[in-house]
Amino acid sequence: MRRSRIAGMGHFLPERVVTNDDLRQWMETSDEWIHQRSGIRERRWVEGNVGASELAEPAALQALAEAGRTVADVDMILFATLSPDLNFPGSGCLLGARLGIPGTAAMDIRNQCTGFLYSLATADSMVRSGMAKCVLIAGSEVHSSGIELSTRGRDVSVLFGDGAGCAVITEATDGSMLLDHELHADGRFAEILMVEAPASRMMPRLTPQMMEEGRHYPKMDGKAVFKHAVEKLPPLVHSILGRNGFTLDDVAMLVPHQANMRINELVARHLGLGPERVMHNIQKYGNTTAASIPIALHEAAQEGRIKKGDLVLLAGLGAGLTWGASLLRW
Ligand code: UT7
Repeated sequence: MRRSRIAGMGHFLPERVVTNDDLRQWMETSDEWIHQRSGIRERRWVEGNVGASELAEPAALQALAEAGRTVADVDMILFATLSPDLNFPGSGCLLGARLGIPGTAAMDIRNQCTGFLYSLATADSMVRSGMAKCVLIAGSEVHSSGIELSTRGRDVSVLFGDGAGCAVITEATDGSMLLDHELHADGRFAEILMVEAPASRMMPRLTPQMMEEGRHYPKMDGKAVFKHAVEKLPPLVHSILGRNGFTLDDVAMLVPHQANMRINELVARHLGLGPERVMHNIQKYGNTTAASIPIALHEAAQEGRIKKGDLVLLAGLGAGLTWGASLLRW
């Protein structure tokens, strides 16, 4: 039976560092509040007009080089983002144009914090079925142009950062492979984390009054999202391990979505995983949503925290609600 693997990865963070103290020029906040509640010390922001596809380009080229492939090998682009360059067309099409591969199929995956996991499951199915041979996944976000930089928006705006992470998925040849994925969604909770406008369900989609009210900025019931994450992630981890005949003892590294250090520490405690087996980098980058898991996974590999043959678990929860996990042999 044909299997697939991550053949190479890349990530890219804009150079501009914005510390917690820097945010105080726009809102009432403090390094102490942000760090205590979320673990974040700083994040990266783009400078000027940079969209998600532009941010993804260097990460994509790095992932292809690491995989020993060129842009000409790519037969499918999956682009995970909640901050697409444009409402339409999708950022996958724009990335294909940037990479100079006209005609190559491209699809955007709008699943927020689990966008990379949904993309990985989709790429895995495509390679296993023979429909694609070399899938380029990009998780890329430019949050900085869409957050409310004021005290009214501070509960959300201090958390998010810009960044991109990419992976190249090809047929497995040497034992390294994607093993399984478990994906979930529950739209009953859509309103606990969303951007309300502009939206097709409103006539007109956006008015000056809506903008005055800040309805075009993300809104979050942070406590509700936090509770869902802490309740849903541990059983999900047990489920995906159990159905593949593994236990937590077999897991070398959990790479969770980087939404909040406290969520990930609580989940790790519930699972009985020590800090040496959980990857964190939220302190440096904040929450980069669809980019967070690929950036963290690539950094873990670059730092030697994941080695060939290790069993690695990826997991996350976010807007939708959506949540999911992927299990792989590195
Ligand atoms: O990837 C997407 C998924 N997102 C998540 O997983 C996020 C999950 N939730 C969280 O991470 C946390 O709920 C937050 C970090 C967002 C907030 O932490 P919290 O402990 O739930 O704080 P809170 O929202 O209850 O706010 C406590 C207080 C409030 O003041 P009062 O009403 O108690 O006087 C807020 O107004 O903190 C205030 N506050 C702030 N103070 C300083 C909110 N934001 C800030 C801020 N700086 N940036």
